[in-house]
Amino acid sequence: MTDSTIAIIGGTGLTSLNGLEITRREVMHTPYGEPSGPITHGVLAGREVMFLARHGYGHTIPPHRINYRANLWALKNAGISRVVAVAAVGGITAEMYPPRIVFPDQIIDYTWSRGHTLFEEDLSHVTHVDFTEPYCSELRQCLLASARSIGLDAHDGGTYAATQGPRLETRAEVDRLERDGCDVVGMTGMPEAGLARELGLGYATCAVVANWAAGRGEGAGEISMEDVEKNVSEAMVNVRRLLEAVIPTM
Ligand code: HPA
Repeated sequence: MTDSTIAIIGGTGLTSLNGLEITRREVMHTPYGEPSGPITHGVLAGREVMFLARHGYGHTIPPHRINYRANLWALKNAGISRVVAVAAVGGITAEMYPPRIVFPDQIIDYTWSRGHTLFEEDLSHVTHVDFTEPYCSELRQCLLASARSIGLDAHDGGTYAATQGPRLETRAEVDRLERDGCDVVGMTGMPEAGLARELGLGYATCAVVANWAAGRGEGAGEISMEDVEKNVSEAMVNVRRLLEAVIPTM
């Protein structure tokens, strides 16, 4: 392992990584409790990587119950310095159509009551981290360049609205998110990105548009879970190709 080892946090539709030659699984205990599962160590496209399924390997942990602090702390202490976070989102603005891949460059946090900071106990001084640019621009550029090099229809930039879930939004809530300047909406972007920053990890999100957000898209009826699953599995084929392309360039 090198100090530039990369972690991939897999979300809905990515609970395992095809093509990852698994070398071992590591159970980690943290001062914040248990992570979503053991860390999977392996080799992908010739590079050592670590993988963690955000919702657990059986996809059983809902977004508001994920122990984000334990997940990020465990990865950091396993030795990684950078994180590519894969996450399903709903598309709000016109460019964010399913099953597109988007690399957001901003985020707004609408979540509550989640363990969202590592800086609350045993402090020698109150700590505020800068979060002006919530995503690592270098990592975003690597993702974007690799996506372009393999011909993916990927969108550069956009604001991610992190909502509490687990229910989806109302049409009025999505209207408000759009007025706030949000382009996509998901339930796991925060506090994950903020914790990565507190830990000094480079962090970028590869968002997969699983559906039009509530009240968006043609017809704008109810959100069909069948369509969500279909879009996610279609997009994950591309995400896997993207990860294999980007890992050797990082
Ligand atoms: N809203 C919030 N989270 C999501 C959505 C959505 O429409 N689709 C996938 N994750």
